[in-house]
Amino acid sequence: MAVTDKKGRVADKIALVTGGADGIGLAVAKLLAQEGAKVIIADINDAKGVLAAKLVRGTFLHLDVSNEASWQEASNKIKAKFGRLNILVNNAGILGQGAQDPEHVTLADWRKIHAINLDSVFLGCKYAIGLMKKSGGSIVNMSSRSGIVGVPFAAPYASTKAGVRNHTKSVALYCAAKNYPIRCNSVHPASIMTEMWKAMLGTGQTFKKNLKHHSEHIPMKRFGTVLEVAQAVLFLASAESSYTTGSELVVDGGTLAGTLTSPDTNIKKKV
Ligand SMILES: NC(=O)c1ccc[n+]([C@@H]2O[C@H](COP(=O)([O-])OP(=O)(O)OC[C@H]3O[C@@H](n4cnc5c(N)ncnc54)[C@H](O)[C@@H]3O)[C@@H](O)[C@H]2O)c1
Repeated sequence: MAVTDKKGRVADKIALVTGGADGIGLAVAKLLAQEGAKVIIADINDAKGVLAAKLVRGTFLHLDVSNEASWQEASNKIKAKFGRLNILVNNAGILGQGAQDPEHVTLADWRKIHAINLDSVFLGCKYAIGLMKKSGGSIVNMSSRSGIVGVPFAAPYASTKAGVRNHTKSVALYCAAKNYPIRCNSVHPASIMTEMWKAMLGTGQTFKKNLKHHSEHIPMKRFGTVLEVAQAVLFLASAESSYTTGSELVVDGGTLAGTLTSPDTNIKKKV
């Protein structure tokens, strides 16, 4: 499909976006709809989900991504209503609250975060393969910068995102081996301003101070926007990335490109 196609870059595609009621998922849903897709917003937040679906002139589906029965039901509904699925964005995820370091995190928390962030991606891919293997499709899994490096005070989150990154490659290779017309790639954002970050940065003056402090450590010296992540997802969802599978697209303002302990950075600062 040509980029200039007036019908849109994902025209007539059926797209499911999990966690589409808010944040990055909502931005993805909006952009896919703007580019011609019929969008299904899946979320556990029914109130926000219904509003979001109205906004994109799409459909809302109550879906708890960690629950297999919920995926089965969603898959049946999509089959009955649309007969196919072309794009799945496995976006829903949580960070976890309270102690999240390897020494103090509880097993219950560890399991909960893995269920929502990683079981979800396994289940989403499993059911999407069934819905996509005849009509063709693209799966985009939302990993994170934290799926590539360790995060000492968000250890379960980092573990889930590393799992998402690796499972993406297994799904991509499996589909290629089976000759299924399905691609699967991961996106790795960092420091994107959504509710997830707002909860960590605090409020009022604390928010401003934390925002400034964190931004100073990002090479591009600013947070990213949800649209900047949505644009990466759109590329992977569309035929523009037709030879790309099992890959990872980093959207992090340069964070993973280097290290703060690099000698030239430290020396330059002193000069
Ligand atoms: N914001 C960032 O800087 C950042 C960085 C890296 C990765 N990510 C990833 O991007 C994704 C979206 O993050 P966000 O910042 O937009 O978060 P957000 O909290 O703004 O939105 C998350 C959405 O997921 C939904 N959700 C939560 N649990 C669910 C469940 N069990 N089933 C279905 N929906 C559920 C929520 O209701 C919400 O609508 C997450 O996977 C997150 O880990 C975000």
